[in-house]
Amino acid sequence: MAKGEDEKPRDRSKKAKAFDTRAVHAASPPDYNAGAVVAPIYQTTTFHFPAELSEARNHGEVHLYTRLRNPTTSQAAQAISELEGAETGRVFASGMGALSCAVLSLLGTGDEIVALEDLYGNTITMLRDLLPQWGIRVRWVPQGASSTVADLVSDSTRLLLMESPTNPTLRVHDVRAWAAAARKAGALLLVDNTFATPVNQNPLDLGADLVMHSATKYLSGHSDVIAGALVGRTEPMERATRWADTLGATLDPMAAFLLIRGIKTVGVRVRRQNETARILVETFSEDPRIEQVLYPGRHSAEEERLASVQMRGRGGMVSLSLRGGRSSARNFLAGLKLIHPASSLGGVESLASLPVETSHRHLTPEERHARGIDDGLVRISVGLEDPDDLADDIRQALSSL
Ligand SMILES: Cc1ncc(COP(=O)(O)O)c(C=O)c1O
Repeated sequence: MAKGEDEKPRDRSKKAKAFDTRAVHAASPPDYNAGAVVAPIYQTTTFHFPAELSEARNHGEVHLYTRLRNPTTSQAAQAISELEGAETGRVFASGMGALSCAVLSLLGTGDEIVALEDLYGNTITMLRDLLPQWGIRVRWVPQGASSTVADLVSDSTRLLLMESPTNPTLRVHDVRAWAAAARKAGALLLVDNTFATPVNQNPLDLGADLVMHSATKYLSGHSDVIAGALVGRTEPMERATRWADTLGATLDPMAAFLLIRGIKTVGVRVRRQNETARILVETFSEDPRIEQVLYPGRHSAEEERLASVQMRGRGGMVSLSLRGGRSSARNFLAGLKLIHPASSLGGVESLASLPVETSHRHLTPEERHARGIDDGLVRISVGLEDPDDLADDIRQALSSL
């Protein structure tokens, strides 16, 4: 801040509040609550239900039963909606719970879904193995071919599904091109924004209709909660959550409380993770033991251009493709002393995993090859440790190869 700037009167009343301010205050206590600064946990399965509320109950306006609605889970949903610029949202027991709800609510026999080939492993298996059982056809868009998405939609397309940056190859895809293809088909675009986070990217501003998160990751941020979220405008959300009460992948109030606590610091954490990841990319980009450093925008000039227009920061994920294949990757993991060898991502502690053995183990070797996931790929989720300590740990693990 320039000298004297802090002395200027600050009237933000007419302006939307900045991201970090919204992150801290989006889930403020719903009512008086004894003056508590932090919203309490409504750890209750059910609620008093006097007969005179019967009419309101029919309109979904009262709390009845926590699988359907709970003040703590509603607050978590409201906070994520706020950060994504959505009208409304809902939280789920996991990211996969959010996705299952959207897919099962929006698609039926004879419908088609157009999906990026390059998605989280369990998302791929749901689309590949489960949807065809109900007569839902999946059309896959190959990696790096966002320009072809408009050619793949048809009159039967109801939903388009993509991620950017992708897991684990960190490719950047054109959200606006996908949104245009969805409009052409009269379909909805759902973007999994887990890797980017709302700190770095808001897909709804780029034309998406729905955004989902594995809130297990950056939104919670401390590797201690499994949670998911789906947010968007009211009308598509009503359609996408039509079966939510019935499917029952409801977030527990205690988990919602932890999620809310994580959300308050997501901006501070993710900006630091953006910065540390960038330092690690620069440090190791010329290392002879590494075939390739994968990071959003590094794949091509076009992806660099896309990342600079649709992202505010590049995120805290870095993947290293090691020379020497799986044995090198395993030795590298075994050599790490600070970075935990573990799946998942987005926490305060750095984690490293082999997608071939974790997130993408259900894919065939051919499917992995088509997605650029080679056996020597190590995915690193950069935490909040000092960048020099992380670089030292990676350096000493590489030296053992
Ligand atoms: C990009 C992405 N989407 C969805 C999921 C699934 O989320 P959850 O594990 O919370 O069900 C994951 C989990 O790793 C993920 O990385």
